[in-house]
Formats: sequence, C-alpha cells, structure tokens
Amino acid sequence: MLTQGPRGTKDILPGEVDAWLYVEKKIRELCERFGFQEIRTPIFEHTELFQRGIGDTTDVVEKEMYTFTDRGDRSITLRPENTAAAVRSYLQNKLYADNSLTKLFYIGSMFRYDRPQKGRYREFHQFGVEALGEQSPAVDAEIIILAVRFLQSLGLKDLELSINSVGDPKCRPVYREKLQEFFKDKLDGLCDVCRSRYDRNPMRILDCKSGECQRLSVGAPEITDCLCDECNEHFEKVKEYLTAAGISFTCDPRLVRGLDYYTKTAFEIKYSPLGAQSAVAGGGRYDGLIEEIGGNPTPAVGFAVGLERVMLALEQQKLFNAEPHKADAFIVALGEKAQSVGFKLLVELRDAGLKAAMDYAGRSMKAQMKQANKAMAHYAVILGDDEIAKNVAVLRDMESSAQTEVPMEEIIKKLTDEVKG
Ligand code: HAM
Repeated sequence: MLTQGPRGTKDILPGEVDAWLYVEKKIRELCERFGFQEIRTPIFEHTELFQRGIGDTTDVVEKEMYTFTDRGDRSITLRPENTAAAVRSYLQNKLYADNSLTKLFYIGSMFRYDRPQKGRYREFHQFGVEALGEQSPAVDAEIIILAVRFLQSLGLKDLELSINSVGDPKCRPVYREKLQEFFKDKLDGLCDVCRSRYDRNPMRILDCKSGECQRLSVGAPEITDCLCDECNEHFEKVKEYLTAAGISFTCDPRLVRGLDYYTKTAFEIKYSPLGAQSAVAGGGRYDGLIEEIGGNPTPAVGFAVGLERVMLALEQQKLFNAEPHKADAFIVALGEKAQSVGFKLLVELRDAGLKAAMDYAGRSMKAQMKQANKAMAHYAVILGDDEIAKNVAVLRDMESSAQTEVPMEEIIKKLTDEVKG
C-alpha cells in the first residue's frame, strides 16, 4: 500500500507552483521597495526558544508544537512561527550592530499540530516581516501598510483590518485584574479551556469561539479603557499614521492575539470569503521579546501572512492565471541516427538559451507531432534518414504549418533569431 503524506500536509504540484512563484515575486518586489531584507533561518530550533518566546501557556506551545529529542538528547522543535527565530538570529549574529532599525522578511514553512481543515494545515507557509530596534509608531503603521499593500497587490479587495492595543507590562496587569473581577461569578458558565485561562491568561477568554463564552463576555471591560498614557499615545499615533495613509481600519478592543509576546499594537487582516479560516495576516509590536530571549531591551514590530490562505483566496477569486509553459522547439527524430543527431541538437539549443524538448521513446511521426503540440512548441524540428543524409532539418512552424528545409549548421541561429526576435 502507498504511504500517504502526513495529515495536514500538502504537496504543491507543478500546476500550482506558478501561483506560488508569482506571490513570492510580489513579496520580494514589495519588501525591496519598503527596505526589508530577506533572512532564512533553520526550520528547527531549540525548544526553549519558543517556550520562552511565545509563552508557555499559549495553545501553540502547550498543544501544537512538533517537538522531539534528537540523537544528541536535545529537545528540538520544528518552528511553529518565525518571530522568535528571527529575534534569535538578530541577537546571535548581532544584526543590530550597524543599524538602529533592522528590517527583515522571510518566506517559509511553519509547523503546528492543529486540527487540519480548509485553510489550516500542520505544515503551512508564512511570509513575515520583523522590524527590530525602533519604538516609533510610524514603524507599526509602516508594516501594517506593507501587509495591506501586499494583499491589495494580488487583487484582494474588501480586506478587513482590525487593530487594537494590548497594553504593556505597566497597564496590562490592571486590565487583567478588571477582567478577572468581571468573570469571577461567571466561571461556572465558561468552557473548560476558558476556566483554565481565567488564572493564566484571562484576555484569551475574549477570543473564545464558544457561543456561551461569547455571551458571557458581553459587557466585559475593554483594554482600551485601561491603557497607560504611553500606550494610549502610541495607539493614537498609529491610527493617525494609518488614517493619513488612507488605510481603512476598525478598532477592535477585543482583538487578542494567540501568542504572548505582544505589547501595544496588535492587528489582524481578515478576508471573509475564506469562511472559518479568514485571518490572512496577523501581527503587532513585541517590545519585550528581545529581552526575554536574552538581548538588551529592544522594541520591535512585525506580522506574518498565511500563504495557503492567500492561495485559496487567489483561486476562489480567480485572480491568477498561469501563463502556459511553451517550448520554443520540439525535436521530432525518426530513426536511430536521427535520435542521436537530434539529442546533440537538443543540448545545443538549450545551451543557446532556447526551451527545447524531444521524445526519447522512438514513437511514430504522428505521435511525436502530438507531443510537440502538447508542449505548445513554436517549431517542430523534424529529422529523418533523408534529412540526416542531406545534413538538414525541416523546420515546421506549428501555428502556420509552413515548413522549410534548413542546413543543420544554421538551425541554432535561425531558431534563436525567430524565437528571440
Ligand atoms: P499567527 O497569527 O499565529 O502569527 O500567524 C500568522 C498567520 O499565519 C495567520 O493569520 C494565518 O494566516 C497563518 N496561519 C497560522 N496558523 C496556520 C495554520 N495552521 N495553517 C495555515 N495558516 C496558518 C504569527 O505567527 C506571528 N509570528 C506573526 C508576527 C510576526 N507577529 C509579529 N511578527
């Protein structure tokens, strides 16, 4: 029996890769324009990086990590996200040394052991950016604008951008207490998960999908009423910058992110036609993470986009049409001698920069012409015993069916001139 790919993983097949390349090209163009440089970090890291970075009580760390002990008895984890890893690399390689603001981007696979469904996978890809070393709210706005522009550049419309401030270690404890006070006599009605969140991370109760928990959180205090002056001012500035840039957004005081490292700005972009998994991008500021991981206190902000969700949206809205892969020339070789002359010509045509193909199975003329059509070849180069004897080939324009006999030594030049114009 065939061994199937693991649950929650997907092969990206040749017919689908074009759309990925198109999206990756857009990412690279846009990041270049915004001054972000690509970084590639390993797919696995020491487990403690994510435990310290993302937070021990988050769903990601508690339930979703692919963690194993390697042969050297180290605990290793396949990265569930890349912010902690980018920060690790930033510190380890002293990327802060020559710049006060370091702007990085990445594209790569992440791994989370979650229940797979449409738009949610165990191996998925993110495009993310991290801007490290600057506390100005202008950077928050800059990266939000980058996320929006990226999705718009693919033709996605009606994106819903929600922003919030989740405070900082000065004001969040005040809010936590207020929330605990609010939920104190509602504990029995909350789901099991939220009951355990009450002590550890009560803000996550606001994010619960259970209808009963949602009903019980109606009227809960809002973080934006508890922000300290610094967080409040920062949030106001981010909004000002976004408004000035013409970016529409909604303030959602209940927006809580699933990872613990956020401070001040948090945001999400939804694309509702995707249904249940409509969050295409999420991010925010994480001014405490770099210190948590062992560096000097350094402000930072970033986001990540789920690329499978972007692909689903492109497919759903028919926003990408792959250009067909057309061969410039297909060599139709009839007979053994023609096969070897044809093979040499094939190599030379490719070396000359042309897209060339041929049949190796010694099929009939009709079958090889069919293949030439399938390859959408511009020209068929027909070689049989007669042509070999005369040291020529017949060039057939596959569209007009016009045929000309061309001396062998002129074929490469003739095809190059014709195809490259
Ligand atoms: P996140 O919200 O966990 O944030 O993930 C970002 C995006 O990745 C989500 O909005 C979603 O589109 C996609 N995503 C997450 N899990 C899955 C999954 N199982 N299958 C498919 N797509 C998924 C982060 O990862 C943060 N590191 C973002 C960040 C960067 N914050 C600051 N800097």
